Amino acid sequence: MLTRDNIVKLLDRYIHTEWLRLHMRESEAIMIGVASELGEDTVFWGMSGLLHDLDFDYVNKDPSRHVVEFDNILKIENLEVGRDIPEDVYHAIKSHYEDHPDIKQKRESKMDFALAASENLSGFLVACALVQPDKKINSVKVESVLKKLKKKDFAKGVNREYIYDIEKVGISLERFIQIALDSMIEISDEIGL
Ligand SMILES: [Fe+2]
Repeated sequence: MLTRDNIVKLLDRYIHTEWLRLHMRESEAIMIGVASELGEDTVFWGMSGLLHDLDFDYVNKDPSRHVVEFDNILKIENLEVGRDIPEDVYHAIKSHYEDHPDIKQKRESKMDFALAASENLSGFLVACALVQPDKKINSVKVESVLKKLKKKDFAKGVNREYIYDIEKVGISLERFIQIALDSMIEISDEIGL
């Protein structure tokens, strides 16, 4: 099974865009926070967050190839699902882009719903932090995140429906935002917020 060190080395090889790497790190932190809340496996849930966009630079951020070509990287790296990456982590990674017509995995498990929600909320919270006077994640409050989610023209690219689907794992939206903020505050130095 891939260790976190192995994953960091993979990121060193495949991720060359600073914001993307930070986004994957933030997604990992939020997934660990959600896993802790639910009593799920923090190692595997964290792994799904840290790995989920591994192919995004590889496909030059082309949405039509994103997540589809994750499998090519596995092949190149001689990584096997089931041996090196748990089946459920792989499923979560693929299904976080279930809107793609060539991706057959749909969000089904708690990890699937949590990953799609967490990676979308990660980007949204960065946008919320950047409009604070001090640009700090610590200044972002749950109430203001809830309000901004309703503003369609704020952080337009973020899929709100995937965030709201966190309720399917048994966590309220408010609680989820609080967990995500706490998780990102813990790594605020690392993510520069
Ligand atoms: Fe992502």
